[in-house]
Amino acid sequence: MTSPATSQHAADPIQSYLDRGLRNYWYPVAPSWQVGDAPVGITRLGDQIVLWRDKEGKVHALEDRCPHRGARLSLGWNLGGSVACWYHGIEINGGGTVTKVPAVSACPLEGQKCVKSYPVEEHAGAIFLWFGDDAHKEPAPLRLPEELVGDEYASFLCMSNWKCNYQYAIDNVMDPMHGAYLHATSHSMAEGDKQADMRVRKTETGLMFEKVGQRDVNFDWVELGETGCLWMRLAIPYKKKFGPGGNFGIIGFAVPVDENNCQVYFWRTRKVQGWQRDAWRFMYRNRLEGLHWAVLEQDRYVLESMAPNAREHEFLSARRRHDASAPHVASACATGLRRARSASRRSRAVGSNRLRANRSSRPQPCITTRPRRSMAGVSS
Ligand code: FES
Ligand SMILES: [Fe+2]
Repeated sequence: MTSPATSQHAADPIQSYLDRGLRNYWYPVAPSWQVGDAPVGITRLGDQIVLWRDKEGKVHALEDRCPHRGARLSLGWNLGGSVACWYHGIEINGGGTVTKVPAVSACPLEGQKCVKSYPVEEHAGAIFLWFGDDAHKEPAPLRLPEELVGDEYASFLCMSNWKCNYQYAIDNVMDPMHGAYLHATSHSMAEGDKQADMRVRKTETGLMFEKVGQRDVNFDWVELGETGCLWMRLAIPYKKKFGPGGNFGIIGFAVPVDENNCQVYFWRTRKVQGWQRDAWRFMYRNRLEGLHWAVLEQDRYVLESMAPNAREHEFLSARRRHDASAPHVASACATGLRRARSASRRSRAVGSNRLRANRSSRPQPCITTRPRRSMAGVSS
């Protein structure tokens, strides 16, 4: 089982907090197409959340718990600006205020804000929520990488569910060296040195982790940015036969579901306009998407197979320079740690019982078959 939630973790409130996900960031929580007319129930950062879309297409997000008896609101009805609980019909609007209690006349619950609501934005084909703690209820501005908001780029969103903690997923993306091994037989990462010294340098919004002396040959660098959300950027060189646009870019997010499950969101981008954009989109859908899914499945398969508590029992050698900085970026993130510490103090005061209860009911990830090298057409 790939689980960071061990007894050692249980004794460390900061690690327990990290395992559930850093608060006070925006996260993508669902591709836009997943939320239509019916309310949808999801779990992200350990929170149960109901999403629904009103008649104008605006998405609303509430804690998925009816204030009456605790039924899941996602089982209920979409009334547009509000959702109705299936059990006894209480109606709650997108701000979390009870608007109607049909079983009781003049119920004092009406007009009260009883349910936590989440700020919502929708961009680039995904729904983003703000996960603020009690001290940060107002969301920070969400500034997404230019590839997701600028007209110059075309992108495809690919989302996958992985049975591992989100920190494993961040470690994986922030580790360029694995491309030359795990993906060595892929269509895009067969070239270049299999050994490298790595260096870290600061950027305006975070840091860059890159190979020394090799660029645009393989997966040679990765960037971590913090702009109201935590995103990763990398580029993989593409031969001319893979169409216009130069390097193939990826903007990635690792989104905690709970301690043992996460989602990855990868926008696959190319800088193309006009007819070249049409050519690229056609080619991607028909020739490349299956190949990319195969590469992604290799990552998922390895991460889900890793030893329990892998992050606690590593052997990172100073001689293996590619290990120097990539792992544990989330843990090393100064902002994140600062927030983790203050959250852990709060959680020790009010939430330790809840954390213990959640740990005991975690699902057991399983692994079935090894992904083959050619998995064209695999999708989720
Ligand atoms: S539990 Fe929701 S209305 Fe009763
Ligand atoms: Fe990978």
